[in-house]
Amino acid sequence: MKVVLQTSWNTAAAWRAELLRQAPDLEVRLWPEIGDPAEIDVVLCWQPPPDLFAGMRNLRLIQVLGAGVDGLLRKVPVLPPVPIARLVDPVMAQRMAEYCLYATLRFHRRFDLYERQLAQARWERHQHLDPPEIGVGVMGLGAIGSTVVRVLRQFGYNVAAWTRSPHPDAEVPVFVGGEGLPAFLARTRILICVLPLTPETASILDRRVFEQMPRGSYLVNAARGEHLVVPHLLSALETGRLEGAMLDVFAHEPLPKSSPLWRHPKIFVTPHTAGITNPRTATAVIVEQLRRLERGEPLLHLVDPARGY
Ligand code: GLV
Repeated sequence: MKVVLQTSWNTAAAWRAELLRQAPDLEVRLWPEIGDPAEIDVVLCWQPPPDLFAGMRNLRLIQVLGAGVDGLLRKVPVLPPVPIARLVDPVMAQRMAEYCLYATLRFHRRFDLYERQLAQARWERHQHLDPPEIGVGVMGLGAIGSTVVRVLRQFGYNVAAWTRSPHPDAEVPVFVGGEGLPAFLARTRILICVLPLTPETASILDRRVFEQMPRGSYLVNAARGEHLVVPHLLSALETGRLEGAMLDVFAHEPLPKSSPLWRHPKIFVTPHTAGITNPRTATAVIVEQLRRLERGEPLLHLVDPARGY
């Protein structure tokens, strides 16, 4: 099987080494040195350039190397008519959950305040609630969201989720769609976004959302920068509607040095690190996918391009 590998991180060599270690029979060509495009069976990519698929007449699968496929769907206006799959790696979901747990503990236990007190050598203790008294609201209940929910529940937080469609088997209350949003926000002190980026969810974290949360709430965005309306966040922090935010993702990455987000005392910025794809564990998932393709078996984690995830 002939596979083209393209990543916009500088990890292509590590991916190739891992692919060949786990599936020595693969022929892995690194973009842009792909030889004859008509020979290619599968593309493994992350935010590909729009011309990557040119001439791939015999392509059978596009496997994205990340959880979100927005980078592919938005960058390549006309995609070849082949199945598209996203990467669902339980290890990555666990990493995302660790990030969200850290953010939740940080705000719940007021480490944000203690960090500011450090600079002034100020010894001042702050009361805090117990986890069952803290409503944590997780937006998105897919592979990542449900792992986040499970981990936060293990720590006793009062977790609920907000999704587009009902999840009757969920282990927490689920609020659905526009109708469910006000009640979801009213009970949420710590709002965690792990939604896919689609036209419906772009700019969803805006003034209207912040205004429906209890005063002094917190925002954690580990999904995509485009979910957040930054000026609305800054004014919500200004008025005290929000008390803090932890942001891992930005509309422009790397976040420019001139961004006010870096220096804001109530914002904690991390460099898109919540759930870095691990080539070793992710390759195991991808190799399983390629074997399924070879054997003509149902493929895993297919994306509906119209739905956007
Ligand atoms: C990273 O942001 C991903 O979608 O995997």
